[in-house]
Amino acid sequence: MKIAVLPGDGIGTEIVAEAVKVLNVLGLPLEMETALVGGAAYEAHGHPLPDSTLKLAKEADAVLFGAVGDWKYDKLDRPLRPEQAILGLRKNLGLFANFRPAICYEQLVGASSLKPELIAGLDILIIRELTGDIYFGQPRGRRIAADGHFPGAEEAFDTMRYSKPEIERIAHVAFQAARKRSKRVTSVDKANVLETFQFWKDVVTEVHAQYPDVELQHMYVDNAAMQLVKAPKAFDVIVTGNMFGDILSDEASMLTGSIGMLPSASLNSKGQGLYEPSHGSAPDIAGKGIANPLATILSAAMMLRFSLNQEASAVRIEAAVQKVLAQGLRTGDIYSEGTTRVSTREMGDAVVKVL
Ligand code: IPM
Ligand code: MG
Repeated sequence: MKIAVLPGDGIGTEIVAEAVKVLNVLGLPLEMETALVGGAAYEAHGHPLPDSTLKLAKEADAVLFGAVGDWKYDKLDRPLRPEQAILGLRKNLGLFANFRPAICYEQLVGASSLKPELIAGLDILIIRELTGDIYFGQPRGRRIAADGHFPGAEEAFDTMRYSKPEIERIAHVAFQAARKRSKRVTSVDKANVLETFQFWKDVVTEVHAQYPDVELQHMYVDNAAMQLVKAPKAFDVIVTGNMFGDILSDEASMLTGSIGMLPSASLNSKGQGLYEPSHGSAPDIAGKGIANPLATILSAAMMLRFSLNQEASAVRIEAAVQKVLAQGLRTGDIYSEGTTRVSTREMGDAVVKVL
């Protein structure tokens, strides 16, 4: 089983190191190869997604990804910014289906900014379309000046676009995922204003005809943002476009106490996947050894489950994470009085010890 390990920038290297440690004690025949990506790759090779890194990712069964980005690259032309690496990987590998579960761990109920009764037992799954929408729409750009950083531009534009097959395939993914859960899907759109999302709504409704056993509800994105903090447990599977999914998944992550706990999987139609924590590179805390590695460790578990067909090992990792939380070990982001504050490495060591 070949895994491309792409730690990236900021806390990426610290958290991925812990996940690799965890993978190494499972006794599985894993072949891991590491490569540079994001700002780190730009520094070394002049490009955030060098051909060699893309090739490694394409040839692997799965990609374990950390995070990319740093404010110091904000002045670079867009194609050279670290974020283009993750967008390029998603597009080039066809990773259209992004799974972002938001699960509230019993031990962390107190870490959320919401009242415990609202979030205790929370288990929702956001399915975000990942290779279309305004993120990849053409044309895009700025009008008037094209020199350097567009100093003379007076207008900028991005195009929101979805094709029917793009919506159909993510709708199928959502309905099939719902069948394994409580059989309820909320499709989030902005059909009251945007043509693209009226189309989204129509196509999702059409696909739904093939899933009469699954309940489908449509919701406008602004209302969904509100309902997520008002009554999050009313949701089960949420399916939405690339941009709304980006925003709603950050919001949902905070329901669970910390974005540092949430893994994600991005899959293509061949079962190949990229696995990354839902959070970013957090340059403000990089190098301090205080980042929470659990989202990345849980992403490695998702990788074993979805791309490597190693369900038993995935379950072992998830149980080990539960156990270290039960032992009271906490990184700063999930720390509360009466628990034990640990570093990134100590948290990884604790999971390894349980395994
Ligand atoms: C995410 C991130 C990315 C996105 C950025 C880093 C390009 O916010 O994975 O949610 O917008 O998709
Ligand atoms: Mg995001």
